[in-house]
Amino acid sequence: MDHERIIIERGRRSGVPIIVAVHSTALGQAIGGCRLAAYPDWRDGLTDALRLSAAMSAKCALAGLPNGGGKTVVALAPGQTLDAPARREVLHDVGDVIAGLGGAYATGPDMGTGPDDMVTIAERTPYAFCRPVEAGGSGDSSEHTAVGVLASLQALSPEPLGERTFAILGLGRVGAHVLRMLAEAGATCVVSDVDEDRRALAGKYGATWTSPEECRTADVDVLVPAATGGLLTREIVPALRCAAIAGPANNQLDEPATAGVLHERGILWAPDYVVSAGGIVHATAVELHHETSEQATNRVAAIGDTLAEVLRTARATGTTPAEAARARAENLIAAGRRRMAR
Ligand code: PHE
Repeated sequence: MDHERIIIERGRRSGVPIIVAVHSTALGQAIGGCRLAAYPDWRDGLTDALRLSAAMSAKCALAGLPNGGGKTVVALAPGQTLDAPARREVLHDVGDVIAGLGGAYATGPDMGTGPDDMVTIAERTPYAFCRPVEAGGSGDSSEHTAVGVLASLQALSPEPLGERTFAILGLGRVGAHVLRMLAEAGATCVVSDVDEDRRALAGKYGATWTSPEECRTADVDVLVPAATGGLLTREIVPALRCAAIAGPANNQLDEPATAGVLHERGILWAPDYVVSAGGIVHATAVELHHETSEQATNRVAAIGDTLAEVLRTARATGTTPAEAARARAENLIAAGRRRMAR
């Protein structure tokens, strides 16, 4: 068993399955967002929570944070929607489960939840990051995540962003910021989203709109996954035409071995848990360490240095960036565990 603690509870008010996975507190309080999504079965939500929380441990360790990894998954039934009162009940149930952990884990926004939801969770527990600034939190983290993505894209190559081509897969909160920032830098972008409503953003920023499948296999310098995970599979690798992949989506690989398949194909994969750390770096800097927004932004920019170092180590040791990052995260977490055992 890799995880320190896993709680699975049917929400007392809502009746909805709530899963909180605490992967590790070896480096400090576990943090990770609250995902609200439909799953064929709640057990699929559990699988997601286990993988996502482990990735959060690596994300925090590599970002140099004194935090461990956790994740909350609210597993709705297929097609289940929540009206406002039902949503409040769910979020209060989530808050109670988190309160029961006594501070070992703190949540934040993730797919399906936002800063306003953190206010509702915070009615039951203080351990919720990213409430709106007016409500005393550090606000929406997606722009900061995007800043970390841009720093990563810069670290991939000395060529200016404006002279490179990108395919952004997913124009949700983070993806839309990435598109805006790349457009401002003069980059050429191909974009897609399963939601046709996002098409207007392509027009606004002069990007080419395509289908998700064309976007994933576009002939560009960098593919930027910014939607759900699992998009990189052994089967899809031969069809890819990008030179590198770096984006904020969590758990981009269907399984760890796919990193090796990408490497053999000559595609550089920047580990998602390095690239996507901007949100947690900013939120913890402001809310836990009371830093100014400027100090926090400098920390987010350092994600580019971390990625550059991971890429250097990979080249020097003849391994994949994924392997170099995993080894580094494991060393840091193991050192934390030894300190904790003493
Ligand atoms: N989606 C963010 C993540 O999992 C959630 C988060 C943001 C958690 C900020 C804590 C603080 O990386």
